[in-house]
Amino acid sequence: MNSLLLNNQVAIPVIGYGTWQIADGREAYESVRYALETGYRHIDTAAAYRNEISVGKAIHDSGIARSEIFLTTKLHNDDHGYEETRKAFLASLSDLGTEYVDLYLIHWPNPIASRENWKEANSGSWKAMEEFYEQGLVRAIGISNFCERHIDALLETAGITPMVNQIRLFAGEQQSSLVAYCHSLGMVTEAYSPLGTGALLTSPLIQEIASEVKRSAAQVCLRYNLQKGHVILPKSVTPSSIKQNLELFDFTLNENQMKSLDEMPNICGPTRNPDEAPF
Ligand code: A2P
Repeated sequence: MNSLLLNNQVAIPVIGYGTWQIADGREAYESVRYALETGYRHIDTAAAYRNEISVGKAIHDSGIARSEIFLTTKLHNDDHGYEETRKAFLASLSDLGTEYVDLYLIHWPNPIASRENWKEANSGSWKAMEEFYEQGLVRAIGISNFCERHIDALLETAGITPMVNQIRLFAGEQQSSLVAYCHSLGMVTEAYSPLGTGALLTSPLIQEIASEVKRSAAQVCLRYNLQKGHVILPKSVTPSSIKQNLELFDFTLNENQMKSLDEMPNICGPTRNPDEAPF
């Protein structure tokens, strides 16, 4: 699996299996088992997805060495602050049935539960996460859904610059200034909803490019984000799609195709302002 290096030299596979909206229990268990069998070595979950137990069990039962799998989970919005983060992280480790995670992220910068004091809450969470990192309980730490202002506030007290920012990225939504800012700070950008939660698959432009390169619309969307330099986290519970979403390294999009995707309007609705998120 192709990888990028985080700024601490930890390798992150560029395709991760996204588990948002995959129900806990049989659905999560079977789809993660299938993803691992098919060749994924990067699984992305979160406390908020409520599927960590099934994801962890699927990893365990796969028989693949834990060290071969890059596993990400995220701090729940209700658990910001130093003590809360310590507790929440240990609960995630226990639910996942693992002794460490590869990447731990603050899921949202400004949740309702800490909206009055989000800067202090993030600073406390980050301190706890830096300690996990120093103790070897996480191999990397990062953020998700952070805009420039949230990053700047965090950096006022952080000892370690986040290694990753996971944000909403797809053809039509490239958040270019935020991505450039993250890259200037040495962060890897991860794309969630790289298929626009499926809405991009019927786009005539994407379908036209798909027929030019003789691949599916989903593969065009994913290849586009890879060529933009992002790690991608496609979600699917359909075996043929799970497999297809890994088959991205035997074709490329040319300059014209990239340019037309760069110029595509956002047909999936604007990215949520984290400061107004209703959770
Ligand atoms: P399903 O889960 O039913 O297989 P995103 O990753 O942007 O959140 O998009 C996820 C959506 O795209 C899901 O509805 C998923 O359907 C669908 N999807 C994922 N991969 C493919 C694919 N290769 N072909 C068609 N649909 C796909």
